[in-house]
Amino acid sequence: MWGGRFAAGPSAIMREINASIPFDKALWRHDIAASQAHVAMLGAQGIVSAEDTAAIAAGLERVAAEYEADGVPEDWDLEDIHMTTESRLAELIGPVAGRLHTARSRNDQVATDFRLWVREACVAADDALGALQVALVTRAEEHAASIMPGFTHLQTAQPVTLGHHLMAYYEMAQRDRSRFVDALRRMNQCPLGAAALAGTGFPIDRDATARALGFAMPTANSLDSVSDRDFALDYLTAAAQCALHLSRLAEEFVLWASQPFGFVRLPDALSTGSSIMPQKKNPDAAELVRGHSGRIVGSLVSLMVTMKGLPLAYSKDMQDDKPPVFEAAGLLTLSLAAMTAMIADSEFRIERMRAAAEAGYATATDLADWLVREGGIPFREAHHITGTAVKLAESKGLALDRVPLGELQAIDPRIGARVFDALSVDASVAARTSHGGTAPDEVRKRVAEARIALGLDGVAS
Ligand code: ARG
Repeated sequence: MWGGRFAAGPSAIMREINASIPFDKALWRHDIAASQAHVAMLGAQGIVSAEDTAAIAAGLERVAAEYEADGVPEDWDLEDIHMTTESRLAELIGPVAGRLHTARSRNDQVATDFRLWVREACVAADDALGALQVALVTRAEEHAASIMPGFTHLQTAQPVTLGHHLMAYYEMAQRDRSRFVDALRRMNQCPLGAAALAGTGFPIDRDATARALGFAMPTANSLDSVSDRDFALDYLTAAAQCALHLSRLAEEFVLWASQPFGFVRLPDALSTGSSIMPQKKNPDAAELVRGHSGRIVGSLVSLMVTMKGLPLAYSKDMQDDKPPVFEAAGLLTLSLAAMTAMIADSEFRIERMRAAAEAGYATATDLADWLVREGGIPFREAHHITGTAVKLAESKGLALDRVPLGELQAIDPRIGARVFDALSVDASVAARTSHGGTAPDEVRKRVAEARIALGLDGVAS
């Protein structure tokens, strides 16, 4: 492709280190689309004759049909998807193929192709997160009043509802979606026409190519256009945050599926057995989602470090931008699908959850709150009285609401019989009606809003 200046071909090592075709062939559809938009514009501007434009467009269609049928051939001598396609085009239609590369460079070409690919990845992530949210709200509605222990420091803290717990992940998914949508909006500018780095003297129409490829507008600075990989970093940042959320959710399932917790029975379809211990049912899918999050975060770090020292404009280091993005996107897609299925198909053992909530003095705060409300006692003092009551209950091996009233009154005479109304786990969650609180009615309100946002229900008129 550049033989004119060279006396010898590249060494075997050079060919190998230079070749990106093994991975950038994933861009073939985007490369063809960008070439079609480019050649149509060259024709419309009179830069390439109508006859040559038609020959190139038809040739590109044939190349695409071949790739579709047989895959993209991997010839290291042709380096990348751009040269592979151009060389095949030349084989099919002859020297006229050489006119396609007028007023463009592989630098603006790859920047355009990759943006098109990442744009689709943002849409796919947003859609997959929507499916996860549907699973979450469906199970949350079902379990709006199912009691489980809420934890801080992984110590039983206060009773919450399972629906409330699941809706916490709905909120995380909502923020993740907004990050992908935001990244998509920001990256939706077309670098094609920036050429190698400085723009071109040919009378090209950048608005036309931008429009043809579904971009909102052309990029404003040619140097920035070919050296910017913010769009890939924006995608990876959103993917990394999303992966962290999935990892936390996966970790909960690993814990909940363990025998001491026993909060969930994982679907057989998402578990594995042990080759030596017949009783085992392992949460491998959840563990792999947790594990994959490390690789997704690693992809973000990888591309950040690749980019950090590069002067303007294009440097070949930037060819290494694609593997981390492709890897992260593949892992994220799988992780989202796995967690969606896990949420949808797991059996929550709500009797075990309730028993755990009842066992851990989770309603101690309710006793303290009751003393504040009914006895007019300052919260700090109520906290101390309650601590004494918990110590007593613990020494007798009783739940708080099973300690005889007389013994509670011996700790503080202001404790009255009606305190027992507040000490059950059901009363505890039902009382937490503040906006965003765990009360079943509050959870149902959030679920109703979420169902409208997801398009599952219409807006009440
Ligand atoms: N394969 C290259 C990449 O992915 C395409 C751009 C090459 N440009 C160049 N001037 N060598 O970045």
